[in-house]
Amino acid sequence: KSCAVITIDGPTASGKGTVAHRVAKHLGFQYLDSGALYRLTALNAIGNGVALDDEASIASLAKVLPCRFDHGHVYLSASDVTDDVRAEQIGVAASRIAVLPLVRQALVELQLSFRTGNGLVADGRDMGTVIFPDAALKVFLTASAEARASRRYKQLKEKGIAANMEDLVKDLIERDARDSSRTTAPLKPAPDAYILDTSDMTAEQAVQQVLDWYAQAA
Ligand code: C5P
Repeated sequence: KSCAVITIDGPTASGKGTVAHRVAKHLGFQYLDSGALYRLTALNAIGNGVALDDEASIASLAKVLPCRFDHGHVYLSASDVTDDVRAEQIGVAASRIAVLPLVRQALVELQLSFRTGNGLVADGRDMGTVIFPDAALKVFLTASAEARASRRYKQLKEKGIAANMEDLVKDLIERDARDSSRTTAPLKPAPDAYILDTSDMTAEQAVQQVLDWYAQAA
């Protein structure tokens, strides 16, 4: 039997990252943060002076993205970019390059390569719809815009990154609109996904729900 996959898709700051990471740890599965790949691609393009709408150039860079994930740190070539990739403006840049079909295509193989070992928990926007359509369990996490903005605000504050609630809500709504309306791999639940609204849930409760669904599916 091939390596089982759990996909966790959803909008910005819905809690996907935290939930996916904890589920992976609990099950001893690999973890793919696909958003980080789009963020790294954006960071790489900016670092190379490539315009964010230059589809062919960004796709070429993405095909050989020199990234490495190690003990919670992210590297681009030799640089530790763990904090840089999480910056809000890199998230916005990532969502701009994510609309480009050649860029998405260039990142497919890299995403598939995370499927090794006991299993994989993959988080993103199109994990269940495009990248791992044969996943054993598909979850779509949502939360109200207010809940998501305040979570993101807390995260950034904890990291000592300056944040402003009003700008965050604006960025979030803008990114949701861009992610949902693009023609290639738009943000939408797979027909066979379980929908989980985490607005009034703790991370622990959401993790437990995903584990329960997985136990039923396995
Ligand atoms: O999840 P995260 O906020 O890190 O993702 C950054 C951006 O990358 C998203 O706003 C989205 O536009 C894009 N993305 C995507 N497909 C994925 C993961 C992320 O288009 N699977």
